[in-house]
Amino acid sequence: MKHTDVIQIMKDESLLGQKLTVCGWVRTARDSKNVAFLALNDGTTLNHLQIVIDKTSDVVLPEEAAKLGAAIKVVGTAVKNERNDTTEINAEEITVLGVCPPDYPLQKKFQKLETLREIPHIRVRTNTFNAVFRVRSVMAAAIHRFFQDRGFVYVNTPLITASDCEGAGEMFKVTTIGYSDKYKSAEEYYADDFFGKKAGLSVSGQLEGEGAAMAMGKIYTFGPSFRAEKSNTLRHVAEFWHVEPEIAFCELPDLIELAEEMIKYIIKEYMDRCPEELKFFEERFEKGLTEKLLNVVNNEFAIVDYTDAIKILEEAKVEFEYPVYWGCDLQSEHERYITEQVYNKPVFLINYPKDIKSFYMKQNPDGKTVAATDLLVPGVGEIIGGSEREADYDKLVAAMQAKGMTMDDYGDYLDLRKYGSVPHSGFGLGFERIIMYCTGMSNIRDVIFYPRTVGNIR
Ligand code: 4AD
Repeated sequence: MKHTDVIQIMKDESLLGQKLTVCGWVRTARDSKNVAFLALNDGTTLNHLQIVIDKTSDVVLPEEAAKLGAAIKVVGTAVKNERNDTTEINAEEITVLGVCPPDYPLQKKFQKLETLREIPHIRVRTNTFNAVFRVRSVMAAAIHRFFQDRGFVYVNTPLITASDCEGAGEMFKVTTIGYSDKYKSAEEYYADDFFGKKAGLSVSGQLEGEGAAMAMGKIYTFGPSFRAEKSNTLRHVAEFWHVEPEIAFCELPDLIELAEEMIKYIIKEYMDRCPEELKFFEERFEKGLTEKLLNVVNNEFAIVDYTDAIKILEEAKVEFEYPVYWGCDLQSEHERYITEQVYNKPVFLINYPKDIKSFYMKQNPDGKTVAATDLLVPGVGEIIGGSEREADYDKLVAAMQAKGMTMDDYGDYLDLRKYGSVPHSGFGLGFERIIMYCTGMSNIRDVIFYPRTVGNIR
């Protein structure tokens, strides 16, 4: 269907005076004695195009075209509205493409985000979700551009995996066998299953990504990861999009440099390419958002040792719900205090106790900590988790044994330490978490098209 996008009509003055075809959905309809107006949105911009119908002429406005949500096609001339300096269309012919009955769920102008979560297929038609998903698209492209421009190879790691516990979280099972009491043991059950062994949805592409980095030097993955923890929080979903670079010949300080550069790059791209959406989020969801993001782009992030963070928390004049001591896993209240109250900017926390981190992290010479880092940001908390990897075969095996892991499942992974092992590092960025930070949306369920959480799927 040949037609012109609303965004183009609004931007391109050379279209003034031309006869155009526009298509879209009706957002509002106003009627007076001699003239009627329709506000048309085609999804290409948050702004609506005004369609003007001269009722004294022989232009017909079909009754069904003046209904909220109706899909229409309009042929008319682009003219300048001198009062507000925007382009509008003087309609000559209006066709209804799809009627929209009064039970259309978006009748009210403002609806609670909570209510909209019940209708993911319809909420995407609101300005809020149009803006969120455009920002997601622009930032996804920026992530690819960042890595591609720096020579990283985009690798697609498997979503179905047999490696049981990467250490990152609970896995969803993948099976083709339904409920059955036919089997006497788990072994018998798995042997009869599709893959002949236990399989699950991957919590991270890292382990395979490391293999690719040992061949191509610099790689990244960008795809879904799955976590079956029943953590019903504002920052967790069971299916999230995960960006995971893995770099050979890279130590922790190099990794931190790369992560900071990437975050600044993608935020800057967002600010440059989505001014309309940024303004919308600033007005509706987070006052001061633009200034916050400018500060991120223009200032150094803080780097704080875990041990120093513990001292800061112990000395804080705040009653934390969870106790603070060296060796504790930091809770969201602790992370937020550090990044919001103390630094008020993104903070790389480094050198965590080895007992609370994954087996693959590079062991520091102190014997107590690992060369890990989490990037914490005000408002959202952890958006990145990463580390230098343990490259020494014996040390890795010892760490795995200490964590009670079965070596048999990790033969491939251990091979990487056997054949030409090198210092290497990587991190995982939660895509939804950075979108939350950049839009001011406070619930992760509102930055992903179809959120999957405990007890909730549709
Ligand atoms: O810290 P995580 O668990 O690290 C890993 O999975 C490593 N294998 C990454 C690596 O080094 N390649 O997860 C990384 C990030 C977190 O910082 C968070 O932003 C996001 O993934 N994340 C989630 N986002 C939404 N919902 C969840 N349930 C998430 N779990 C982790």
